[in-house]
Amino acid sequence: MSQLQGIRACVFDAYGTIFDFASAAARCADIPEDKRAALTNLWRDKQVQYTWLRSLQGRYADFWQVTGEALDFTLDSLQIATPALRDRLMDLYLTLAAFPEVPETLRQLRQAGFVTAILSNGSPAMLDAVVRGAGLHDLFDAVLSADAVGVFKTAPRVYQYGLDTLGLTAAQVSFQSSNAWDAFAAAAFGMRVVWCNRYGQRRERLPGAPDHEVRSLAALPALLAAPG
Ligand code: LAC
Repeated sequence: MSQLQGIRACVFDAYGTIFDFASAAARCADIPEDKRAALTNLWRDKQVQYTWLRSLQGRYADFWQVTGEALDFTLDSLQIATPALRDRLMDLYLTLAAFPEVPETLRQLRQAGFVTAILSNGSPAMLDAVVRGAGLHDLFDAVLSADAVGVFKTAPRVYQYGLDTLGLTAAQVSFQSSNAWDAFAAAAFGMRVVWCNRYGQRRERLPGAPDHEVRSLAALPALLAAPG
């Protein structure tokens, strides 16, 4: 296994990569257990679809709005829509659980001298809440939102915004995402990419190829040569 050389910063997608979006429905006692997986999957699918469709149409609305509209579609589809349930799930989205290996992995990366950052479609307020809620605020040097650009990933402008803010070139960044679509797009953009394939997704038939594929972020530090 060859280590990635010349990396200065580890940049992470947020939802599904650092934070477990399934933890919202899992923590919501009002949702029947047999509907939790369906709710989580449809909510997520609609949420990301809406980011792409809005980006294509040039009709940006922030991720909080998109997430709420995707939830409305989902609750309606499952025939469990009530205003109280909507509010509860949206609140839970602000305090999602981090995946268990995340804090220790970030500590190791920082100790090795890497800059750590999030680059997410999440709105600034959502990201601030979820990062603080999981106690990770001291472990990231920067939390960057696509909102600053007014378009969502996979628009190359969002990845470029990450580079411009960190003052690095694409080759100096290792980007981690659990979302195949995000991992492939970041690779096509020119970043080095470690695809954290937690969900056992298939490879996309799209431009870009991740440099490494792992199942957990715990495998990341060993893949990166320490910055000189
Ligand atoms: C993110 C979502 C879409 O950008 O995973 O964090």
